[in-house]
Amino acid sequence: MLKDKKIIVGVTGGIAAYKTPLLVRELVKAGAEVQVVMTRAAQQFVTPLTFSTVARRDVITEMFGEQPAATAQAWTQHIGLALWADVMMIAPATAHTIAKLAHGFADDFLSTLVLALRCPLLIAPSMDVDMYLNPTTQQNLASLKEAGYFLLPPDEGELASGLTGAGRLPEIETLIKAAEELLDRVHQDLRDKNILVTAGPTYEPIDPVRFIGNSSSGKMGFALAHAAALRGANVTLVAGPVQLRTPRNVRRIDVRTARDMYDAVHREFDQAHALIMAAAVADYTVAQPATQKIKREQQSGDTLTLTLSKNPDILRSLGERKTHQVIVGFALETDNGVANAQAKAKAKHADMIVLNNPSEEGSGFHTDTNRVTFVYPDGAIEELPLLPKFDVAMKILDRIQALMRA
Ligand code: PMT
Repeated sequence: MLKDKKIIVGVTGGIAAYKTPLLVRELVKAGAEVQVVMTRAAQQFVTPLTFSTVARRDVITEMFGEQPAATAQAWTQHIGLALWADVMMIAPATAHTIAKLAHGFADDFLSTLVLALRCPLLIAPSMDVDMYLNPTTQQNLASLKEAGYFLLPPDEGELASGLTGAGRLPEIETLIKAAEELLDRVHQDLRDKNILVTAGPTYEPIDPVRFIGNSSSGKMGFALAHAAALRGANVTLVAGPVQLRTPRNVRRIDVRTARDMYDAVHREFDQAHALIMAAAVADYTVAQPATQKIKREQQSGDTLTLTLSKNPDILRSLGERKTHQVIVGFALETDNGVANAQAKAKAKHADMIVLNNPSEEGSGFHTDTNRVTFVYPDGAIEELPLLPKFDVAMKILDRIQALMRA
């Protein structure tokens, strides 16, 4: 798995840095090409010479390295390396580096490189237990996870400070297994493919301050966009109003109403090789939204009647327009799921429908997991177990890849 793989190992200034040369040695022994990048603080714990000896390559410690600062090579080395790698790991990752990465700082080689990276990045936090559990560190880690980086939680046990708790760098075998799993899961098999994804709810205005919406968080659609980008696709994500960070290397178009989403998706559709409609689009909109806030005092009686009109069915309209595109829709069903999804696949000319049920534990809105069934227009079905939404996204992309080939 590691043979001939190009791996960047980032080392930051924590006591666990003393273990990282062993990680590098094992990666090299397994046949990987390893480029080590160290922060200044890391060099307080282990010397670059140790790493260059085990990696059999010069270690990068400075933004401008050996070359004169004015050379083109010095300016673009971080970009070249970012494109070179199959995977990057930061082990150990200190609270300081995690905070920098979470906020997009680029004040040294390591942080600049991470901003330019296209391949998966595995971050192994290691620090004292209180620093790790500090809400700021946890928030920064959550933010990195949301941005599409992979986190390997620290082990619990005795720490260098003498305290006991979470914060130890996992064993070398665990780090290597995590890198192998990532390389196994993420192939660049969608390079040059344009994938269009929709995510989140739509909001239909009632008046300038109120709307009709739904509970979609956007997590399913964002997981799809993230997974497709990691697999090398050019991803356009049309997102309804959600509170999520845009995954790395994803072009995002924000929309609010179903009509906005319809316009955006139709604009992008011709260039797409595949469309995945994970958004929970409102089927109805308020026929005539009020131009001023509706005031309670001005209403007679105890009820307020809103007249709704049908929104366009985006998926169906694109199914009718498709030329070469693979089209995947979702179906959110609480009863008669398979039959309804089969009907949707046919009516909307979809190549596949991803059926999920919001009343099942761990599925549907807001959850980090989903249990889905793939339903095909010819009646075939494929049931998946409960999985993280990222893994569901990977499975959907596997099927799309097969449908594109067919
Ligand atoms: O965002 P999360 O919190 O992660 O939740 C994920 C999810 C539950 C929203 C997602 O997994 C999901 O099921 N999305 C589709 C929800 C939905 O609108 O299902 P539906 O069965 O009503 O619609 C069928 C398909 O037609 C969907 O692909 C939908 O995007 C599309 N549609 C629906 C209405 C409409 N006017 N135009 C459409 O294109």
